[in-house]
Amino acid sequence: MIIQWFPGHMAKARREVSEKLKYVDIVFEIVDARLPLSSRNPMLDQIIQQKPRLILLNKADLADSKQTSLWQNYFTKAGFGSVIVNAQQGKNINRILPESKKVLEEKILRNQAKGLKPQAVRAMVIGIPNVGKSTLMNRLVKKNIAKTGNKPGVTKGQQWLKVGNDLELLDTPGILWPKFEDQKIGQKLALTGAIKDDLLHMEELAFYGLAFFGQYYPRNLMERYQLTEVSLTQSPADILAEIAVKRGFKDNYDRACELVIQEIRSGKLGTYTLDRYEEVEKY
Ligand code: G4P
Repeated sequence: MIIQWFPGHMAKARREVSEKLKYVDIVFEIVDARLPLSSRNPMLDQIIQQKPRLILLNKADLADSKQTSLWQNYFTKAGFGSVIVNAQQGKNINRILPESKKVLEEKILRNQAKGLKPQAVRAMVIGIPNVGKSTLMNRLVKKNIAKTGNKPGVTKGQQWLKVGNDLELLDTPGILWPKFEDQKIGQKLALTGAIKDDLLHMEELAFYGLAFFGQYYPRNLMERYQLTEVSLTQSPADILAEIAVKRGFKDNYDRACELVIQEIRSGKLGTYTLDRYEEVEKY
């Protein structure tokens, strides 16, 4: 589910996150590993301020692993702890607690020096819609937490979900908006499926996807649709027409658009990263 972010919604979402911050030691900021910058909330720094943070690069199974490592270095250099995870399969989930303790080391040592009993780390999960917040929380808690829906939710009494003895999660994640007023970012979010289809122009999105794969992963594109290098020099419209014929859709061009978008989203064209580390200065 995607919601429309009107200024009123944004203010409310922001207020809800700010209110909950006081209950937690650390924020788990989930980003999509295919979009390590574009899937961030543009105002998160301002919203969470000095609250310690651990960045979780989720959906790593769908991202280009070379780029993911580069992005992890980028976050390290920026002073953030991070873990590369795949919430769907539970990969690296067990790294989250130790990395959180590293981020909170100073505080933990201070409390130890004061002779205080060790406390469970209290965390809240924050991220844009569809980035994997519920999936990750379910994985951590190992049960089915009811999906909260992407509404800037009604604040209930604060409830905690226990993850073993050392970690407690706030029961509802913080849902914040992406920077979708930037068209390029909007297109990237749409191609990964973070933005609902009916809001988009499918043809434009398919063109964008084909151009992107043509530039960064041409082999994958050629192999998936049995295209030659010459085919790739054609316009995206001609490439799509060729794919439509090859897949037996004849002149059903719309179906070819949907197919390409769907296959990119689900990883059938291989792993990919839309935010390119080498272009970092452009973000
Ligand atoms: P949200 O709470 O942040 O809104 O996101 P949610 O957990 O609902 O996840 C959104 C979609 O992303 C779900 O797919 C979920 O399965 C998928 N997802 C989450 N983490 C990962 C991951 O690490 N790798 C991959 N490949 N996918 C992930 P869906 O199609 O909406 O639902 P479903 O078909 O899985 O039920």
